[in-house]
Formats: sequence, C-alpha cells, structure tokens
Amino acid sequence: MAHPPLTGIKACVFDAYGTLFDFASAANRCPDVPADKMGALTALWRDKQLQYTWLRSLQGIHADFWQVTGDALDFAIETLKLERPRLRDSLMQLYLTLDAFPEVPSVLERLKRAGLRTAILSNGSPRMLDAAVKNAGLAELLDDVLSVEEVGVFKPSPKVYQLAIDRLGLPATEISFQSSNAWDAYAASAFGMRVIWCNRYGQRRERLPGNPDAEITTLAELPELVAG
Ligand code: LAC
Repeated sequence: MAHPPLTGIKACVFDAYGTLFDFASAANRCPDVPADKMGALTALWRDKQLQYTWLRSLQGIHADFWQVTGDALDFAIETLKLERPRLRDSLMQLYLTLDAFPEVPSVLERLKRAGLRTAILSNGSPRMLDAAVKNAGLAELLDDVLSVEEVGVFKPSPKVYQLAIDRLGLPATEISFQSSNAWDAYAASAFGMRVIWCNRYGQRRERLPGNPDAEITTLAELPELVAG
C-alpha cells in the first residue's frame, strides 16, 4: 500500500525488540533448543514477556526487563518441558546479542544522512539495550537510546512516550515512531506521535485507540516516508 510521505519529521524513534532486533534469533542460534520446539519457544517466551510487562505496570510492581525476560523464559521452558542444564543461561546471553534485522544499519545511515535524529525507545534495560546496540554495530547510528527504566513503568504507559518528547526536546508531531508491535504503534499514535507501523509479522490492526499514519513491512520502506 503506498502512503503519502509524512512531513515535518525531525526524529525517528524506534522500538527495539521485534523492530530493530530479531528476538527469534536467540532460540534459533541456541544449539540446545530442538528444532521442532524453536518456534513455540520464541512465541511463548515473547507473549509471556509482554504479558508480564503489562501486568506489572497495572500492579505498580516494576521489575526491569531483564528480570521479566528471565521470568517469561522460565515459564516457557517449563511449559514446553525443555528443562536442560544451562539452557536458560544460554538463551539469556543470546538475548543480549540478538541479530539486527538486515536492513537496519543502512536505513539508519540514510536517515542520518538526511539530517534526521535517530533514537531507541524501549522496554529494555539500559544494559540490555547497550549490549544489543553495540553487538549490532549501531552505536554510531543512534543519537539516543532511551529505556523505560528512566520512568519505572513499561509501554504502553504514556509516561514512556513522554520520555521521548522530554529527552528529544521535540513535539510529538515532529517525531516518527516505528514499532513492529501493533499495540505499541497504536499507543504511540494515541499519545500523539506520528507512527509508522512496521508490520513484519503480518498482524491484524488493533481495536485500540490510535491510528498509525502508515504501515510498512520492513524498515527499508521508511526513509522515503520521512526523509522527503
Ligand atoms: C520494546 C519491546 C516492546 O523494545 O519490543 O520496547
């Protein structure tokens, strides 16, 4: 679907997991995960991880994304009967060095050449984000890496999207937010940001407040939409 370009964008802010970094690469690269359980492990681990972020935010009992990710992995390993020595540690270490999606470095380079600022806004803890960014060689291509740890609550709390406004010093309407998580894209839109939903996973549209400005299938389509 062709979309008209967004005008007046000064910064592109990205979700991390699923948008810049491929969370499936942890299980895929772990030799101890049987091939026939890889997909189920990735899906359950991710679903439970997100559920725990939402539930903890509602409860007002925050723990950082490293703990939540480990708790979700424990649940998934037990559910799928994958208990094996060192499997948990291996997968958690792999989560620190997830693959970036292949188009990411060149897209960030193009955005920066066009004079746009680039940033991450993620549930990830500072240590997790720092490791992922460095491992993927993206440190020079990102102006800011913002973690929800600064506000002590997870997405989609408006406090998280406000953090980007405060730290970038730009109005929401001059920020284009990219997420492959439909719920995150809709929430940023409801908050007032311009939003490009990078629908890598072929999700259906959410029945939630918000209305992303554009939908793409990989980030390769982003520069022409915002750097006009
Ligand atoms: C993040 C999760 C939601 O990076 O993907 O914030």
